[in-house]
Amino acid sequence: MKRLKIYRESFGCQMNAYESDVIASLFADRGHAIVEEPERADCIIVNTCSVRDHAERRAIGRLLDLSRHREALIVVCGCMAQRLGAALFDLVPAVRIVAGTGSYALLPDAVAASAEDGGRFVFLEMDDDGEYGASPADSRGGVSRYVSITKGCENYCSYCIVPYLRGKTRSRSAEAIVREISSDVAHGTRDITMLGQNVIAYRDGALDFRGLAERVLAETDVRRLRFLTSHPRDVDASVFELMAREKRFCSHIHLPVQAGSDRILAAMNRGYTREAYLERLRTARSIVPGIAVTTDIIVGFPTETDEEFAQTLDLVREARFDAAFTFQYSPRAGTAASETPDDVSAAKKKERLYALNAVVREERGRILSAQLGNRTEILLDGASHKGEYRLLKGRTPEFRNVLVPPGGLKDGDIVPVVLKRLVNFTFEGEVAAGGIESNGRSSGPAPIPRRRT
Ligand code: 5AD
Ligand code: SF4
Repeated sequence: MKRLKIYRESFGCQMNAYESDVIASLFADRGHAIVEEPERADCIIVNTCSVRDHAERRAIGRLLDLSRHREALIVVCGCMAQRLGAALFDLVPAVRIVAGTGSYALLPDAVAASAEDGGRFVFLEMDDDGEYGASPADSRGGVSRYVSITKGCENYCSYCIVPYLRGKTRSRSAEAIVREISSDVAHGTRDITMLGQNVIAYRDGALDFRGLAERVLAETDVRRLRFLTSHPRDVDASVFELMAREKRFCSHIHLPVQAGSDRILAAMNRGYTREAYLERLRTARSIVPGIAVTTDIIVGFPTETDEEFAQTLDLVREARFDAAFTFQYSPRAGTAASETPDDVSAAKKKERLYALNAVVREERGRILSAQLGNRTEILLDGASHKGEYRLLKGRTPEFRNVLVPPGGLKDGDIVPVVLKRLVNFTFEGEVAAGGIESNGRSSGPAPIPRRRT
């Protein structure tokens, strides 16, 4: 077999970033090499997103751009591959393989065959278990890593294409998850984020998400454990109780609210009201007083009125979000919402997004400023340059960014700090008295940078 040089890029969510590492491992396990420049590659793999039209247009643009590497075999995988299938051959003629979200284990053989005879392949079948056939071993060694715990989604929020592209919810076995996290920790990782479209739906026999988190904490030496994403309808006190009890289970939750009006939430098929969402936050904060909450919000959902949008602004003022990711509604063919005309004009969506971002920033400043003077701990995971000064970057357990002067510290250290200043939503900290907890193991090379939408 010819040893190929594989280059990869990922668009979209953390799950795609993780699965790109899985794909790289599948190739590395067969003796292929992973390279970091497309110029050197025999095979270019682009993992794509379909969540909004903009994400697809960016991926197509990038694929056309990569097509200039005429000697390389181009593979498209991920959500856009699943959605467009063989149509991608027409959109981007250089593409040789289209691999949907459930077919990555087939890629090494297909790439080898296509490298031999120039054949084209399309794989759109969905796998029926949560496993991958490999874990992302090749790029191990980052201070922070992702681990997928569930695939797929069955929530059918009316705007969302994901259930159609990633299939029914499948959970990985707890044993495979614990094994992968143990191995990451043995390679120097200290912070793990468990991933799934809705992690709270996790089930392995009688084991639920809370049970899985307890097991990971009991059976591995992971120093910080996080998770993404939870559905507000499903998350309950048991998860917060574990957070309150276990310092290693970080006090941050990403809980997408999407909208602030009950009529829009119902049209979105979210399964909760504004008040039920706010009540969840009250529960979370009563059990874990310092918990940080982040969210996702969509503006311009079909039929959304100015008054309904104002309720979203009002919710943001009430909810005390640490951060919010905000999006303009983008109709996705095949979803329930796409049957209603996309009647909020582009100008109106833009205006609402602008107004929303202003309130989000104002609130963010207020919430973060309230932390000034507090003492916390940060996990160092890189450097940042401020003029000619080099500063180290770290995260608090709540996932807040802090910069500190380098003085003898290194990636993977957990350092006590006092939060002194806030500049552009990033804290500047002073190293405080108390022990620095160094990572006993080498943290190895940083993970390969990824493209984000
Ligand atoms: N249009 C705009 N935003 C969307 N999201 C999901 N589908 C759409 C869509 N059709 C947003 C949601 C979700 C995040 C990942 O992307 O806010 O939480
Ligand atoms: Fe991830 Fe959703 Fe984009 Fe698919 S469509 S890559 S699941 S964000």
